[in-house]
Amino acid sequence: MLYDDMPLLKSIKDYGKGKTLPLHMPGHKRGEIYKKLKLDMLFKNIMEMDTTEVPGVDNLFCPEGPLLKAQELAAKSFGADNSFFLINGTTAGIYAMIMSVTKPGDKIIIPRNAHRSAISATILAKLHPVYILPEIDEQMGVAMGIRPETVERTITDHPDAKAVLITNPTYYGVCSHLEMIADIVHSHGKILLVDEAHGSHFTFHKDLPKSALASGADLVAQSTHKTLVSMTGSSMLHIKGDRVDMEKIKFFLQIVQTTSPSHVMLASLDAARYIMDRYGYILLDECIKYSNMVRDEINRKTKFYCLSYDKIGESGIFAIDSTRLSVCMKGSGLRGSEADKILRERHNIQVELSDINNIVAITTVADDDKAYFKFLEAIMKISSETIQLSGGTFEIKPPEYLPKKDLSPFEAVYKKTEFIDVGKSPGFVSGEMIMPYPPGIPVIMPGERISKDIIDFLLQCKDMGITISGMADPGFNKIKIIK
Ligand SMILES: Cc1ncc(COP(=O)(O)O)c(C=O)c1O
Repeated sequence: MLYDDMPLLKSIKDYGKGKTLPLHMPGHKRGEIYKKLKLDMLFKNIMEMDTTEVPGVDNLFCPEGPLLKAQELAAKSFGADNSFFLINGTTAGIYAMIMSVTKPGDKIIIPRNAHRSAISATILAKLHPVYILPEIDEQMGVAMGIRPETVERTITDHPDAKAVLITNPTYYGVCSHLEMIADIVHSHGKILLVDEAHGSHFTFHKDLPKSALASGADLVAQSTHKTLVSMTGSSMLHIKGDRVDMEKIKFFLQIVQTTSPSHVMLASLDAARYIMDRYGYILLDECIKYSNMVRDEINRKTKFYCLSYDKIGESGIFAIDSTRLSVCMKGSGLRGSEADKILRERHNIQVELSDINNIVAITTVADDDKAYFKFLEAIMKISSETIQLSGGTFEIKPPEYLPKKDLSPFEAVYKKTEFIDVGKSPGFVSGEMIMPYPPGIPVIMPGERISKDIIDFLLQCKDMGITISGMADPGFNKIKIIK
């Protein structure tokens, strides 16, 4: 058969053929939004459209024509002074924003559970990260918001830090009090960077949390592909105000991005902005209405809990993204990872993420009413069939303090390392990051000293079947230490 010798292409075609309901990114949901708006001709002939930077098409690194115009339109829509299109994801935006406001040896304040791109940026830019611990919600067992007072305290303890990075919203759809955080950061003369990878839709509806730009952020990176409708890997970086140097941003964007940008991806950012300008409010109205309906029904009629507005005020939570359906199975006898499998295998629904307690479904402007009802019915059925499949609840209590830091990650990654038995590792300096998920907060970073408490906690995670990520030995038998 034609596809048999093209395994990757085949896998993508097969996934499409299966008609799985995609409650995951990218937000265009296999092009559904383009069909819904009768705009599917826009990206029909992708190979024909795939061109290099020929005259008339413009240049990513020094746009003067249509790309410049498209970026200006985006800046207007998103409320920025300047916007840049990215084809290496928000990852590239995070690299560029961190590098443009620091120099080697500087301190930067970042959440302990920042996306790996933020940690990588500190390695590339040779920075000393100072971590802020997010709050952990007891019920869901995952990292939630960051309290403004925690930011204030961290800045007071590290007045020499150059900037503060906040992840807002989180993967689970939780927002911190960004406006208050912006005031605190600026009152100390620092720069606020926001990883708004999961919040590019916020600008387009009044009932969604306030966007980072509207809350006072200086630099904001957004995955337009996750919650809006551009192609996977296409994102935007926005700038507002005069605290950051535009020329430095442009310089670092050239360092972190490819010199062969995909114009199809760039054009999909233009299309996503156009769609949201034209139809965004109405489409989001539907999306919010149906997501709230599903949320309420799950909370009224099932054994599960869908993250809702009742949590506002707890665990550093200031607002909730209505479109994110984070369903907690804790106490029901079913693990989140089991629900994920049942949804896939019995209901043909694929969610974005699952962990031991929860599943996370992403709904966007591309989903129609059938998608919400299908998900709700499946969850109700799973709830009615749940009878202690794997028993017990899963309590996750990581150590409440940060380990002693001997080296920053950028210093640790260049040291000689060796593997030793996990049981013998307390007292040694770790050569790798170790993060149990949930709660999704690294318990150890490269360069930090391993303690017995940490190892005991990780062994407990392993016994409970919690994923331990970041380690070279995923079985958690050996640990990489610095010699
Ligand atoms: C919170 C957060 N920040 C940044 C990123 C990186 O975004 P991208 O995949 O667009 O590079 C992700 C990706 O999942 C993320 O979840």
